[in-house]
Amino acid sequence: MRKVRTYNEVQHSTGSQLLEQVLELQDRLAARLSSIGTVVAIASGKGGVGKSAVTANLAAALAMRGRSVGAVDADLNGPSLGRMLGVSGMSLSDGPDGVGPPQGVQGVRVMSMELLQEAEDAPLGWRAPDFGKFTWRSTLETGVLREFLADVVWGELDFLLIDVPPGTDKIERLLELIPDLDQALLVTTPSEATRFVVSKSLRLVQEAGVGVVGLVANMTEHECPQCGHRSSLFESGGAERLAAESGVPLWASIPFDPRLGASTDLGEPLVIKEPEAPASRAILALADRVDAAAKAGADTE
Ligand SMILES: Nc1ncnc2c1ncn2[C@@H]1O[C@H](COP(=O)(O)OP(=O)(O)O)[C@@H](O)[C@H]1O
Ligand SMILES: [Mg+2]
Repeated sequence: MRKVRTYNEVQHSTGSQLLEQVLELQDRLAARLSSIGTVVAIASGKGGVGKSAVTANLAAALAMRGRSVGAVDADLNGPSLGRMLGVSGMSLSDGPDGVGPPQGVQGVRVMSMELLQEAEDAPLGWRAPDFGKFTWRSTLETGVLREFLADVVWGELDFLLIDVPPGTDKIERLLELIPDLDQALLVTTPSEATRFVVSKSLRLVQEAGVGVVGLVANMTEHECPQCGHRSSLFESGGAERLAAESGVPLWASIPFDPRLGASTDLGEPLVIKEPEAPASRAILALADRVDAAAKAGADTE
């Protein structure tokens, strides 16, 4: 079998000082994260389940509770978090210590690929050597994410939320950058197709030893605006099954509410606009759980 050596196994000096460079980058990331209380990844594995909407509303909810919050949009190809937190069109500032992130709703500091692109409809392209472009791609993407974390002047934060794009590989990459991730929230819808994918992500974060893992069921039911009748959007109770099989607690069940999508997508998370709506109440309760787990983690350190 072919043996692949890791950087740490390379004992001799590499001509390019590759090992030294990688270690220096890791040190810089660790130094930046040391002024952040709790790092929370919001992931799923699946797309379109509401990761970004949950991240935006959770960021706003934690900020409404008086916490200082930053949010990283790790979805480089389909950035959504910037607009949901109201920083679209804002500028990054440039300083000796790194890039200053703009502040969106409730003072949440946001970093997103959207802030680096001029045209709204520009798809993300990568400048890489012409030969074998595909070999550079994941290296470049991981490099950008590391810069979003390490080269942004986050300052002292209680929480840094990371909106992780679909694909379990993206969760894996994040864990390589932040092996001691404090919390992972896995967003699922009740559907069987989603349960199947999220179960893989769940196992990944459990096996990686992430300290706190919580499930978030989104789009669980819908209340008819005319008659108030509540109906399930999906037949299968995928989130409950995931919770029962994995022992991971279900931290929130967020109903489908067209107002949540409409206002969040336009830069006003529903928790701010209508904190009494059932969907907002579920996310505010989620914020309390995240906050309590962070406090418990800090107490045992
Ligand atoms: N509970 C909900 N009720 C109504 N709309 C929702 C809900 N959750 C998410 N949405 C909307 O559904 C769309 C997809 O959600 P999004 O957060 O972008 O998914 P993801 O980040 O997982 O791909 C967005 O327009 C979002 O605002
Ligand atoms: Mg998204």
